Amino acid sequence: MSDEAGGARRVGILISGRGSNMTALADAVAEGRVPGARIRIVLSDRPRAAGLEAARERGIETAVVERRGRTREEHEREIIEALQGRGVELVCLAGYMRLLSPCFVGEFRGRLLNIHPSLLPAFPGLDAQRQAVEHGVRVSGCTVHFVDETLDGGPIVTQRAVPVLDTDTPDDLAARILVEEHKAYAEALALVCSGAYEIHGRRVLKR
Ligand code: GAR
Repeated sequence: MSDEAGGARRVGILISGRGSNMTALADAVAEGRVPGARIRIVLSDRPRAAGLEAARERGIETAVVERRGRTREEHEREIIEALQGRGVELVCLAGYMRLLSPCFVGEFRGRLLNIHPSLLPAFPGLDAQRQAVEHGVRVSGCTVHFVDETLDGGPIVTQRAVPVLDTDTPDDLAARILVEEHKAYAEALALVCSGAYEIHGRRVLKR
């Protein structure tokens, strides 16, 4: 479904916390850096997620769908209904800290993006920046990828690299990576909205 205002694709963003990637995406769209996208809703599984207020300040509709008292299936079904009820075509996970089931992934296959703070396939899962520092890598970064049924394992849309310094704490590295995350996500969403790519196996090739 396209947005009646001008053919833009409706994007839903799922968050759990601070929401800086969400605001970076929203600002990039507002500034015209992601042609063909409209942020339709920001949805959180946590009512106190700071990103909710930031979304509202930008005039974006928000919703909270808590897991509490529900099975994973029921919780996800409600999220899917909230997204589909608003005609959302593309879903961006932006610090959404729950694993999604194959059912959710199947519903949005090829239309579901995630950002992860490492150069995948290195350091999937939680605390990626701490994993990178403790492993002693000299370069890390971020990855935007399509989500499939594997943990942080779907086809890679874009990556941006940063150095890891001898003095880095995980927080230092996280801050350096975050600057690149904000650029990477907007670039990746712009590519996906343009439709100018093909997926060959694991590879996302620009046309
Ligand atoms: C970001 O660094 C994002 O890459 C990471 O959580 C942070 C959310 O920050 N996501 C993951 O680790 C997912 N495995 P934000 O709420 O400010 O966008």
